[in-house]
Amino acid sequence: MAKYLVQKSGALRGEVNISGSKNAVLPIMAASILTDELCELSEVPALRDVYVMCELLRALGVETVEDYDKNEVTLKTGKVIEIEAPYEHVNKMRASILVMGPLLARKGKAKVHLPGGCSIGARPIDLHLKGFQALGAVIKEEHGYIEAITDGLVGSNIYLDFPSVGATENIMMAATLAKGVTIIENSAQEPEIVDLANFLNRLGAKIKGAGTDTIKIEGVENLKGCKHSIIPDRIETGTFMVAAAMTRGEVLIKNIVPDHVKPITAKLKECGAVIDITDEGMLVRGDVNPLVATDIKTLPYPGFPTDMQSQFMAMLLTTEGESNVIETVFENRYMHVGELNRMGANIKTDGNKAIIQGKMKLKGAEVIATDLRGGAAVVLAGLVADGTTEISEIYHLERGYEKFVEKFRNIGATIMKMED
Ligand code: UD1
Repeated sequence: MAKYLVQKSGALRGEVNISGSKNAVLPIMAASILTDELCELSEVPALRDVYVMCELLRALGVETVEDYDKNEVTLKTGKVIEIEAPYEHVNKMRASILVMGPLLARKGKAKVHLPGGCSIGARPIDLHLKGFQALGAVIKEEHGYIEAITDGLVGSNIYLDFPSVGATENIMMAATLAKGVTIIENSAQEPEIVDLANFLNRLGAKIKGAGTDTIKIEGVENLKGCKHSIIPDRIETGTFMVAAAMTRGEVLIKNIVPDHVKPITAKLKECGAVIDITDEGMLVRGDVNPLVATDIKTLPYPGFPTDMQSQFMAMLLTTEGESNVIETVFENRYMHVGELNRMGANIKTDGNKAIIQGKMKLKGAEVIATDLRGGAAVVLAGLVADGTTEISEIYHLERGYEKFVEKFRNIGATIMKMED
């Protein structure tokens, strides 16, 4: 199996260009099913999850043209051939369930084969299904799969028990072609929701309020095609912000939306990092002040993102004092803790709380990337640990970071990929 070898690298310095957002492009690709016209996407990151989504869309009858050198993907769903997301795809990538809303709206039927337990918590899809039901779909649950059927979706008022990102997206997509008005209350407010709504509105949908906790969707009869450029990835941005700070370096991060990373910026500043927004991007410096401990609590946007929790924890190993982390979005999102502790960290967890001792002397070790963001955390720890850190199961990282090794090497990190 391929591995990353990471060595202590000193202060990272230079410039890095952020790619298009993984979590924005996946629902947008799924939304292309809603129209039979051409959807031309740019700033599409070349990632394993994007390849899997293309594969799934092709299996459903979507024609795809992928040019990853130019970061462009064109999708055309002249007709939908299949209405089923097979186990093989959903198991590789949970975001496969995002085809359900568009299939239901366009074909009146969608079937998803559910994966077993997912690595970061149970991750049910009850909120997606409740939303479809409210729009008039009948849900059938058989052994291993879920089917939704309708003879015409009808707009409805939907209150989400939790502002789930995926449920908001799936319901919003389904409602674009429903008869009448749908209102989603307590909706997710993530920037990726806004990007999806912008894309859908370009197709001719009538969506208002995306980015707030109430989204109004006025159903339309059909949608056309459009060109759309994907927003920059705020989690990749955050990962490089943390990398710059914790190596006490100075990195200019380009192609970013400063507003999208506000909670990360605020916490890094609290720790002592200096962050300036310039015309060129965001300059993050960890070499100005000594870095100190802080406490974080993950929350839905605009709170601190759960997808940055593990990377931030890696940084808190290097700061003065004791830090507390509370993970409220996912259960079981501390799988990286065992790996960091193997490198000499002292992190204790109790349920959804973690206590992190700062200023630990980290030592390279053989560790695994337990999941996408947990994998980023061990790479970051490896950059400041003595000796070599050998990271296996790196396919997790390749699911969600474009040109990961190349971008880190360009700013002075000693990291290399060893093929099997
Ligand atoms: C998306 C992101 C993921 C991020 C997460 C939270 C994508 C492709 N993935 O995942 O990177 O970590 O948002 O910011 O965009 N829940 C339910 N019932 C449901 C749906 C969700 O109980 O029907 C729970 C989940 O178990 C979890 C919480 O809600 O505890 C958040 O999940 P959700 O916001 O839906 O995350 P995803 O859309 O899966």
